[in-house]
Amino acid sequence: MNLNVLALPGDGIGVEVTREAVRVLRHVAQKWNHSLSLTEGLIGGIAIHQTGAPLPEETLRLASEARATLMGAVGLPEFDNAPPDQRPEKGLLGLRQALGVYANLRPVRAWRSQLDSSPLKNHLVEGVDLLIVRELTGGIYYGQPRGIFDDASGTRAVNTMTYTRLEIDRVTRRAFELARTRRKKVTSVDKSNVLENSQLWRRVVTEAAPDYPDVALDHMLVDNCAMQLILNPRRFDVILTENMFGDILSDEGAVLAGSIGMLPSASLGDEGGLYEPVHGSAPDIAGQEKANPLGAIGSVAAMLEYTFGLIEESCAVDAAIQAVLAHGPVTADLRPPGAPATTAQVGEAVCAAIG
Ligand code: IPM
Ligand code: MG
Repeated sequence: MNLNVLALPGDGIGVEVTREAVRVLRHVAQKWNHSLSLTEGLIGGIAIHQTGAPLPEETLRLASEARATLMGAVGLPEFDNAPPDQRPEKGLLGLRQALGVYANLRPVRAWRSQLDSSPLKNHLVEGVDLLIVRELTGGIYYGQPRGIFDDASGTRAVNTMTYTRLEIDRVTRRAFELARTRRKKVTSVDKSNVLENSQLWRRVVTEAAPDYPDVALDHMLVDNCAMQLILNPRRFDVILTENMFGDILSDEGAVLAGSIGMLPSASLGDEGGLYEPVHGSAPDIAGQEKANPLGAIGSVAAMLEYTFGLIEESCAVDAAIQAVLAHGPVTADLRPPGAPATTAQVGEAVCAAIG
């Protein structure tokens, strides 16, 4: 098979974790005799510095030609006070929208070997295996009108949370289908006691459910979900939620996995796919070879599964990640007993474990 992939390392630790993810991808391609057509492009702060725009036209063109895109991270401190449409993050939001990847899959697993790296008690996190399905191309992230305006009241900031039935329905069906491959339980998370938006969300999810009679559905308010994720995380299988709630809950989920550096993600639409670790650009440790590449490498496993349908290869990468977690070497965020490994050492160890 030809693996036609665009790499967008982006900013901060995006560079070093993507380098290791690509190392693993090359290793897999070689071992299983796939040809790899890898191109590289600019996104985020580095793209602003080099071209003036966080998502250059050239990057969009490369992404539309690739079957899958592997992204690192976006965000640099020098843009902290820039308006939203001139920030590195705008590049990622624009890319998600351009690719139409409306369903963002963020699996959270508490690996047995990593229980001690979570600050939560072992008995709470042990056995956690959940999947957050976050709507990714709608809601308050994209709604119009938006902006900061001067009016009769002085200055007013506006963001708009908006969803259509179609936007809710398509991500809902993805979540139900994914639940079928797991423990067959969907928890839809909303704020329907306050927001009309969430009332429509709940209605559309409820109406889709009879098409999946083998999957159990329940609803939970987002504030309660934030609490249950810590109190009783094993109760969750698939968590289905809108864009901003999913952003917040997935960082919380990272605590269950021991480190946000562990979390991979896959963003899927009707075709193609965008793969990125959940963590950000962490400028404070960038370029120091301290970053954990396992979230990025896990995103390669997701790419092999969802875009290329290479299940054996994907499982081999996942198994190698687990082997490295069990026996080391791992980076400082996972609190290894001895000296922490570098980003590159972890990538090399994953390749060695694949064999
Ligand atoms: C994430 C990130 C992004 C988001 C930022 C970088 C725009 O926090 O992928 O979770 O809010 O979606
Ligand atoms: Mg986030």
